[in-house]
Amino acid sequence: MSQVGIEKIAFYTPQFVVDLTDIAARDGIDEQKFLTGIGQERFAMPPHDEDIVTMAANAAEAILEDADKTQINSVILATESGIDQSKSAAVYVHHLLELPHNCRAFEVKQACYSATAALKMACDEVALNPDKKVLVIASDIAHYALNTPAEATQGAAAVAMLVSATPTIASYQGKPGVYTSDVMDFWRPNQQSTPLVNGRLSTKIYLEACAAAWQDFAAQNAMAFADFDQFCYHLPFSKMANKAHQYLCRLNDVALDENKIHNAMIYNRIIGNCYTASLYLGLCSLLDFGADLDNQDVALMSYGSGCVGEFFHLRITEGYRAHLKTELHRALIANRKKLSLADYEAFWHRPDMTAASDFTNATQTQGHFRFAGVAAHQRMYARQ
Ligand code: CAA
Repeated sequence: MSQVGIEKIAFYTPQFVVDLTDIAARDGIDEQKFLTGIGQERFAMPPHDEDIVTMAANAAEAILEDADKTQINSVILATESGIDQSKSAAVYVHHLLELPHNCRAFEVKQACYSATAALKMACDEVALNPDKKVLVIASDIAHYALNTPAEATQGAAAVAMLVSATPTIASYQGKPGVYTSDVMDFWRPNQQSTPLVNGRLSTKIYLEACAAAWQDFAAQNAMAFADFDQFCYHLPFSKMANKAHQYLCRLNDVALDENKIHNAMIYNRIIGNCYTASLYLGLCSLLDFGADLDNQDVALMSYGSGCVGEFFHLRITEGYRAHLKTELHRALIANRKKLSLADYEAFWHRPDMTAASDFTNATQTQGHFRFAGVAAHQRMYARQ
């Protein structure tokens, strides 16, 4: 593959956040279970006038200039928080971003994994058409039932990546290692607003997928595990990356160096799981907090329950720092408002989309795009 990869990247996360020490106090449990045991401090909570479309549009708007828009030939939106069984969220986002009509737009799904398939498809498309660009957006709301073990692993964010033949952030290297196996560790049937999850099984299968995807990668590429400078893992909670990295280090008989995973986990600790966006929020974290990463080799391990895993290699481009949105990301985090437990529960109960009646959402988000409500079964979006 000729030089292709990520030219621009940015994330968006809602302005409201829940503190896990408040959840621990509510439940009368030791807060260290969250802070140390799963490695999470806070999770982002979207107000009712935000959804995967508005988060995606906010993330993408931050990286797109008019010149990019004329070159984009595809918008691929990865999510497992779908808003419609038929129409893709990508089409709404295409409209909100005022992209040209000679552009395809579609949605992909496979739990937390699908953004990685989208990134690979985008790289392949650009390799064939180097004058074109592809917009890949991962956008998800991790919404688990209240008072369950998974409640602490909620979160919400979108990551937008512009893929091109001028990858000023990172270029795609070699061939990915992949793994698929039919497992019921986490799934959400159509009638459910929250997933069904076998938490213990999911962490075990996650590790199995890491090992198998890594082995498939190793069989096709000359890179040894020890050759990688940094690792980004899918982050349902940050402790999962510690476990996965320990596991793969043991498997490869490589000494464990936690410094190779630390910077990729900083944003996720305070934003929470964001499913398809989670791995790429980890990449943003590494880019924003890592010391000089010029020419460094980064291993990425993508996992989506059900399950599909993919291990792949990005090389950071020399001079990448000039193209980051670090200040924007820091401002988003700095301006968040902590929710009381009562407000958290009110936000958690999102409008019932199966009800026939129209509704209007109050203005709560400060993002540029908002989900204004539903009229005649149609979702209404607005710019503010
Ligand atoms: N101080 C320090 N640590 C403590 C502690 C304390 N007081 N109390 C408990 N802990 C530790 C436990 O020892 C445990 O650590 P180990 O796993 O290293 O043993 C950790 O805190 C969690 O404790 P429990 O195992 O008792 O937690 P739980 O069963 O209540 O919930 C969970 C954990 C199963 C991950 C749950 O949060 C969950 O179901 N989450 C959703 C599913 C998930 O995220 N799975 C991850 C893999 S699947 C995936 O990656 C896809 C995806 O995004 C969903």
